[in-house]
Amino acid sequence: MGLLLMTLSGKRVLLIIGGGIAAYKSLELIREIKKRGGSFRVILTKAGAEFVTPLSVSSLSGEKVYTDLFSLTDEAEMGHIELSRWANLVVVAPATADLLAKLAQGLSNDLASTALLATDKRVLVAPAMNVRMWTHAATTRNVAQLQKDGVLFVGPDDGEMACGEYGPGRMAEPLAIADVIEKILGGKSLRKGPLSGKHVLVTSGPTHEPIDPVRYIANRSSGKQGHAIAAAAAEAGAEVTLISGPVSIPDPVGVKVIHVETAAAMLASVQKALPADLAIFCAAVADWRVKSVAGEKIKKTKGAPPPALALEANPDILATIAGMKKGRPSLVLGFAAETYDVLTHAKSKLATKGCDVIVANDVGAGTGVMGGDKNTVHLVSKQGVETWPTLSKTEVAGRLIAHFSKILPKKGTK
Ligand code: CTP
Repeated sequence: MGLLLMTLSGKRVLLIIGGGIAAYKSLELIREIKKRGGSFRVILTKAGAEFVTPLSVSSLSGEKVYTDLFSLTDEAEMGHIELSRWANLVVVAPATADLLAKLAQGLSNDLASTALLATDKRVLVAPAMNVRMWTHAATTRNVAQLQKDGVLFVGPDDGEMACGEYGPGRMAEPLAIADVIEKILGGKSLRKGPLSGKHVLVTSGPTHEPIDPVRYIANRSSGKQGHAIAAAAAEAGAEVTLISGPVSIPDPVGVKVIHVETAAAMLASVQKALPADLAIFCAAVADWRVKSVAGEKIKKTKGAPPPALALEANPDILATIAGMKKGRPSLVLGFAAETYDVLTHAKSKLATKGCDVIVANDVGAGTGVMGGDKNTVHLVSKQGVETWPTLSKTEVAGRLIAHFSKILPKKGTK
């Protein structure tokens, strides 16, 4: 008997079955997700129910099948908002031309499209349609829009279609879909590239240092640059661990994300995630934390002066990792966000932190870098200074990853 690997154990998938002949393959997909230990809920569209019955889906899945947006009993039990929030990933298989069009437009006139609009989770679609529908200008436009919106695609495959034509439009095989689900939820890279076999660790975002249960000290970092770097490393085939402070942007795809609040928790997560080949410290870590955090909300007392906050230093995560005697990542990059004398400060940080490169940027008032989409960076290393033109944060990320993947030693830790 083969070894059963519960690779989706603890993961929750919301499967939306659209109306296409490939709907029968979704029954196999359900079986595959179940075999791998994943739990799921199923939404069957009205058209989907023309191809598979709610009864066959629920007998196979052992779960209730949701079909109606206006069902009083369903909404009372688990409404469309809750359904889409409950999941770790929403999978549409088969994704018909109609469902793709609705998703691209943001239409919501049935349970499936409403759940897709209401979700804050990643969405994976497995398109299935006639080749002419797939290659139609409208579908091409919708697919381009969805890719821009961050929707993930698996397939379609080339092959003979139920209608007798040949070409792209066949739904990907259930096994292939399940593998992609596993990669997305397991934080495995979906691609092969120059960083295949390497483990890249990235810190991103601000840290929040509590004052009392409701107040904290923070900074203006959005996490955009660090998240873009993590995404670029995954695109380049790396296994990526992103340790992120509190941000309002979504987790990048194919990346294992660990969410933390404080600098101390960030350091602990970084140490736990080692070994790594390349470590990029992009987070804007708070330098200080409140020495004794109040257990209860601090109250104003009439006539009394405001409370004095005694601070103490946070650990320097970059310096700690760069200074490791054993198990130090081959390449350690730090960032320097400066408001004046950018290069002078960057050079001194290169020495004090003990990292290999400092990526320096000017975040002074008027640059729009903090929270913005553009960045002008200088790579400062023992070899000298290299200044790049102003680029989008995504372009900076891509160039950094391309640049450093060439420098990394060939043998990886993974
Ligand atoms: N960094 C870190 N841990 C800290 C502080 C900073 O890992 N406690 C890292 C950042 O992620 C960044 C680099 O160190 O890669 C530089 O951070 P920056 O805040 O610019 O430098 P500081 O050392 O805090 O110096 P200063 O605030 O005086 O400019």
